[in-house]
Amino acid sequence: MVMVERVVQALPEMEPEDFKVLRALELEMRRHDWVPFDRLLERTGLDEKELGYRLSRLDRWDMVVRTRRQTVGYLGYQLRPEGYDALALRALVDQGVLEGLGPEIGVGKEADVYLGISPKGAQLAVKFNRIGRTSYTKIKRYREYVKDKRHISWLYVNRLTAEREFEALLHLYPEGVSVPRPVAQNRHVLVMERFEGRELAETRVENPEAVLNRVLEEYEHALEVGVVHGDLSQFNIVVEGDDVLLIDWAHWVEVSHPSARELVERDVRNVCDYFRRKYGVHRHPREFFENSG
Ligand SMILES: Nc1ncnc2c1ncn2[C@@H]1O[C@H](COP(=O)(O)OP(=O)(O)OP(=O)(O)O)[C@@H](O)[C@H]1O
Ligand SMILES: [Mg+2]
Repeated sequence: MVMVERVVQALPEMEPEDFKVLRALELEMRRHDWVPFDRLLERTGLDEKELGYRLSRLDRWDMVVRTRRQTVGYLGYQLRPEGYDALALRALVDQGVLEGLGPEIGVGKEADVYLGISPKGAQLAVKFNRIGRTSYTKIKRYREYVKDKRHISWLYVNRLTAEREFEALLHLYPEGVSVPRPVAQNRHVLVMERFEGRELAETRVENPEAVLNRVLEEYEHALEVGVVHGDLSQFNIVVEGDDVLLIDWAHWVEVSHPSARELVERDVRNVCDYFRRKYGVHRHPREFFENSG
């Protein structure tokens, strides 16, 4: 379990040299599974004693992990998710996006969402992507995006996921599609406006027909903007009164993507099935296709 709370506690104690080492590790992990101590010496320009000191501090905060010499044949280090969190949070603070972090407000399949506070005191949602936290096999699903890379790291996959979701929100929000307002993205972290509503799965709506209509309207609106959600379900729809918000756009594809049609059918079917089972509202997915053309 990644402890963002511990990262937040460590941040005020961290010095520029600590970040220098984290950044060097981040870069070198593109090429090495275990980054040799000697590469870090070169990359950071620190002397051996200083680098050793920095690495032991980072190790104490669980931001790095060290190999045993026996396993890989040399002394090497890896960045851990806590170290990646520290880099992203520091950058977001320096950019004036974030001032503080509050409690956890959501846990998804592959992400943790925390309350964030902006320098002006506004409430934000800060989504940390955690793909691969349970197993490496999940990372393999992302081969499609990374086939040109020799080495698929969780760093890369999680950053790519945050970038993609941010990109989707940047397309959708300005067109008026009902999605959270995007604020910023750094590495594997996406910052957006915080919403108050609850997941469809956790609530009982008073007017299911109206809610279903709103969901399909917004879904179609996204298609007009050229974006297929690709992971639509009662867990990724938020209800606020009779209004809805479509969230979790990490798996989107463009309408021209070869799988687009299939994904649209699955998304619409998921939603129609859910409303039929839970509320007895009968809407055939075919109606959606007839209306939306
Ligand atoms: N902007 C937000 N404001 C308030 N709560 C949010 C916000 N975004 C997400 N949440 C909460 O966090 C939960 C998880 O978010 P989300 O669905 O985006 O992640 P996920 O299911 O892990 O995503 P992914 O499929 O990308 O790994 C949501 O269901 C919701 O309860
Ligand atoms: Mg979700």
